[in-house]
Amino acid sequence: MRTQVAIVGAGPSGLLLGQLLLKEGISNVVLERQTAEHVLSRIRAGIIETGTAELLDAAGVGERMRRESLLHDGIEIAFAGARHRVNFRDLIGRGVVVYGQTELTRDLMVGREAAGGTTVYQAQDARLHGMDGSHPRVTYRQDGIERSIDCDFIAGCDGFHGVSRSSFPQSALTCYERIYPFGWLGIMVHQPPVSDELIYVNSERGFALCSMRSRRLSRLYLQCSVDDRVEDWPDERFYDELARRLDPAAAARLQTGKSIEKSIAPLRSFVAEPMCYGRLFLVGDAAHIVPPTGAKGLNLAASDVYYIWQALVGHYRGGSDTGLKEYSRRALARVWKAERFSWSMTSLLHQFPERNGFDRRIQEADLEYLLSSRAALTSLAENYVGLPL
Ligand code: APR
Ligand code: PHB
Repeated sequence: MRTQVAIVGAGPSGLLLGQLLLKEGISNVVLERQTAEHVLSRIRAGIIETGTAELLDAAGVGERMRRESLLHDGIEIAFAGARHRVNFRDLIGRGVVVYGQTELTRDLMVGREAAGGTTVYQAQDARLHGMDGSHPRVTYRQDGIERSIDCDFIAGCDGFHGVSRSSFPQSALTCYERIYPFGWLGIMVHQPPVSDELIYVNSERGFALCSMRSRRLSRLYLQCSVDDRVEDWPDERFYDELARRLDPAAAARLQTGKSIEKSIAPLRSFVAEPMCYGRLFLVGDAAHIVPPTGAKGLNLAASDVYYIWQALVGHYRGGSDTGLKEYSRRALARVWKAERFSWSMTSLLHQFPERNGFDRRIQEADLEYLLSSRAALTSLAENYVGLPL
């Protein structure tokens, strides 16, 4: 098989890039290790920046999102028993789109099918060859048969555990990492959300988040220990603990019900530099991970996609490779700002077991300053709603 761009991974990064390239007449094949059903079974955050939403529109897959999503003009931050509204619209004139990543991935899959794009699911043992030359190649196995794709470029959109980043020579990559000493226990439940907007809670008992997918579907999180298992947290214990972390008015609005999904995610910050090696380009979670506190994972993946899409269009349509040469630098400049924001939101809102009394007082002062300063709130709003591309 021969294509212009071989895309490894059919998560949001790979599918969005594939769709944008198809629109420009640039051929591509997406290789995915799992089945489509498996890809759709993964639950991730549901906050979409304006720029990400516009990119989905540009890819021709934004229609259902525009129809079914909720538009949020702010968030609430709960601290010391009181809730404070952060009014994004008033501070910076923009808000965010609330739409589940699962639905967005489904829209991308439907769009790709309609555009006649080739996706190979259950592609086993993908291997990348010749990235440092001008004729890269991806090999894989399907139904026990060895297959090969010749291409001009490889987009490594295969997430944190993918093969692309590990195909770099070790000496060509520098990784930066922070592992946080806690996890997030999340549940999905068919109940209306606690409030009209998301509530981020800093409580002495640990962080909590009341989020949503729609007016009937809630997504709720608790900071938990890294050693906790899902079995340790029957629904009753989850709701009881969440109610204790919320203020009385919010706790009174918490509607309990049987959870339809429950999982624990570790929190990690990670960046690999540079994001390219020869003709291999890393995109999204393959190159960087953020803790979910700033809801930046999907949006950072989308900005990488934007830069590499523009670079490839420059190569094929404009005859210029400046965008390809500049890809890693441009993407990383935005990545590090989102890493900083996600780390700072995580530091501000969680209880850290190793922190002493001084550290806790500093955290309180940080929150009090944030909530009393229009300048600090504007900075939060600007980062949460999304920095420019
Ligand atoms: N061969 C083929 N596919 C692979 C391989 C491999 N060796 N390794 C991983 N994959 C696939 C995974 O099965 C997954 O479907 O690559 C895909 C990567 O998708 P994500 O992990 O979702 O990464 P990305 O598309 O960059 O998503 C960025 O969306 O999923 C969230 O947390 C993520 O919010 C972030 C954003
Ligand atoms: C979610 O809805 O899953 C969600 C929302 C905001 C976050 C993290 C997760 O910061």
